[in-house]
Amino acid sequence: MAIFCAGLLLLATTFKMSLQSRQYHLPSNTAIDDLTIRTVDVPKLKYNEVLVKIHAVSLNYRDLMVATGKYPMGVKPDVVPCSDGAGEVVQVGEHVKDFKIGDRVVGIFNQLHLEGAITDEGMGSGLGGGLDGVLTEYKIFPEYGVIKFPEYLSYEEAATLPCAAVTAWNCLYGPTPVQAGHSVLLQGTGGVSIFGLQIAHAAGAKTIITSSSDDKLEIAKSLGADHGINYKTTPEWDKKVKELTNGLGVNHILEVGSGSVKKSFGAVRRDGSIQSFGVLEQTEQDANVPLLCLIGQVNLRGVFVGSRKQFLAVSNSYSFLMSRCWIYLRQERSNLLLIEFSSLMKQKRLIHT
Ligand SMILES: NC(=O)c1ccc[n+]([C@@H]2O[C@H](COP(=O)([O-])OP(=O)(O)OC[C@H]3O[C@@H](n4cnc5c(N)ncnc54)[C@H](OP(=O)(O)O)[C@@H]3O)[C@@H](O)[C@H]2O)c1
Repeated sequence: MAIFCAGLLLLATTFKMSLQSRQYHLPSNTAIDDLTIRTVDVPKLKYNEVLVKIHAVSLNYRDLMVATGKYPMGVKPDVVPCSDGAGEVVQVGEHVKDFKIGDRVVGIFNQLHLEGAITDEGMGSGLGGGLDGVLTEYKIFPEYGVIKFPEYLSYEEAATLPCAAVTAWNCLYGPTPVQAGHSVLLQGTGGVSIFGLQIAHAAGAKTIITSSSDDKLEIAKSLGADHGINYKTTPEWDKKVKELTNGLGVNHILEVGSGSVKKSFGAVRRDGSIQSFGVLEQTEQDANVPLLCLIGQVNLRGVFVGSRKQFLAVSNSYSFLMSRCWIYLRQERSNLLLIEFSSLMKQKRLIHT
């Protein structure tokens, strides 16, 4: 199949035939069944663009929201869904410097968020939202819209990074970077929380994770969680978090937005931070957030994925974590091998099944 596709590409290039791409799109956004497939011509590349043959796409909760019309950010009409895709560069524009044919690349979530604070334009440039996404055979990106990923990651593994991993990284390496001795609360065992768990654990922080499932908590412990709390059987999980942190609360909370922000204020340490990234429930909160912020001296921060620069930092840290992982191995502490990020991606899937 791969040889057949490569042959077709060569023919198309040699005889200037137009290359075609099958892709999914959403003519309306009411249900996942709205997904429709079509075949389109791939336009000629501009000077600064790369053409990527997509090999793997990973799904996020956000893709479900887009498909069902519940995504709070803008979505372009008839959008090609999904933000997270990895593939192989098969053509490059004439001015492209940093990529060549055969490079393995992954797209950045917000195509116009390259570094620093996100702009309005950046907010509207999410793949599979404001812009067409990656659920397509071929995708044209501007050169700055992709990064190369390390050898040790497969296409499938790299495709899990752009949204969840970068968001988790941004939450933990924002204005107050996580460090050894800090404590971190991860809410639920979704993609962002599982990446956050392992990034925080690798930084030497004490990690506490919540879940509706004891089985998932066990898996989370095998990934480095120091404590697990079942938020169904322990609805007052905020008190339990305080208990586990000598009455102080945690330094960082990755807030999944499940309608219980008041409890997050109960679980955070004075002068700690709540990184608000999730929108699982869009109901009104009964919490007096300004007052809670004031009393707790809490830093409440909104996080929307992260920049290209942060994505590169995540990518670089994986190799750092891999080498730490080997140090642990040499010390025969193989139980700490859990921060092996290539298996982390598989665990992410496992945790969803
Ligand atoms: N701002 C951003 O840049 C950004 C980036 C990525 C995701 N998000 C948003 O963040 C949220 C999570 O995304 P995701 O991709 O990590 O989702 P996901 O992989 O689908 O996981 C969602 C998890 O949330 C947990 N959960 C549900 N209700 C909960 C509750 N009441 N308390 C604690 N945890 C609860 C569940 O954990 P258990 O199964 O263990 O109970 C579930 O597995 C979504 O709203 C998504 O749109 C935002």
